[in-house]
Amino acid sequence: MTTAHFATDHPYEVIIERGALARLPEQLGDAARVAIFHPRVLTKTAARAADLVRAAGAQPVLVELPEGESAKTPEVLAACWGTLARAGFTRTDLVVGLGGGASTDLAGFVAATWLRGVRWVSVPTTVLAMVDAGIGGKTGADLPEGKNLIGAFWEPSVVLEDPDLLVGLPMAEVRSGLAEVIKHGFIRDSATLDLIEENPADAADTGGTRLHELIARSVQVKAAVVSADLRESTSVGDRVGREQLNYGHTLGHAIEASEHFTRRHGECVALGMVFAAELSERLLGLDPAVVGRHRRLLAAVGLATSYHGAPWQELRELMARDKKTRGTTLRFVGLRRPGQVAMIVDPPEDALADAFAALRGTHS
Ligand code: GLY
Repeated sequence: MTTAHFATDHPYEVIIERGALARLPEQLGDAARVAIFHPRVLTKTAARAADLVRAAGAQPVLVELPEGESAKTPEVLAACWGTLARAGFTRTDLVVGLGGGASTDLAGFVAATWLRGVRWVSVPTTVLAMVDAGIGGKTGADLPEGKNLIGAFWEPSVVLEDPDLLVGLPMAEVRSGLAEVIKHGFIRDSATLDLIEENPADAADTGGTRLHELIARSVQVKAAVVSADLRESTSVGDRVGREQLNYGHTLGHAIEASEHFTRRHGECVALGMVFAAELSERLLGLDPAVVGRHRRLLAAVGLATSYHGAPWQELRELMARDKKTRGTTLRFVGLRRPGQVAMIVDPPEDALADAFAALRGTHS
């Protein structure tokens, strides 16, 4: 078993252990009812969780969610609240979010808003959710006008990560999660990068211990960053708070939006990281060899490292509208060297366009 401690307002542990789902009954406390939110693809796992809850003397309430991001709508939220109301869900009852980042985001937000907040347990089942989306206390839903426009910081009581639940995950999903693992490696843990370079195939093998080790390292990075700045409120001077977890995300989000969220998040972040590294070479003096290392590592796990989609002007406008933008000032997380991040605020337009040309592979 590996654990990571999140030292936030309401501290919690992430437990990474084969069979960790069996720990669910330890979290019941006074709960008489446990609502288990899950997508259809996890029906069997949800039934197993329900059996554990029942055996421990509580009543499970299974709630099937639409797949992926389509779960995060106001309509689904309202339906979830209705289900809790009809089940007579009280303040001491427990919510469980089982699935990828969309399921844990939505379940966490239902927990944050039900009776002004009830306890919840996050059980992420994708690499991406295990290292990022399902563990940091950010919960929420989307509006037609934009992703994650409603939400709350609401920490889970515990995060249970069972690597056995990863087996059978589509390879494209594994790769998407590895983009976030590589991100954590560049911002704070070079050993992660070495481990992936040593054997990229092992890194992507859901049945192997190397991937589990990488997940555990990644969770430690996120725990350290979030413990220092849960609410993403402190990037002051040279000190970059939670915002550093957005390395590669400014352009990544714009690519996602321009492709109407049809491309996986991690694939967009991978492209965004190459761009951020190129920009860092131009504005922060990042060694070009490290930029090359970004491309090699991402390609080694099967992620694209050059982009041939929307034109620069379209992405530039989408970035200006991103909710992370302050006013109209563009902000990028950059790297001075692996393990040392710095903010790039309001960069010159020619540096942006030049870094984008390098991402396109059209740079002379
Ligand atoms: N995924 C970025 C964050 O948790 O802040």
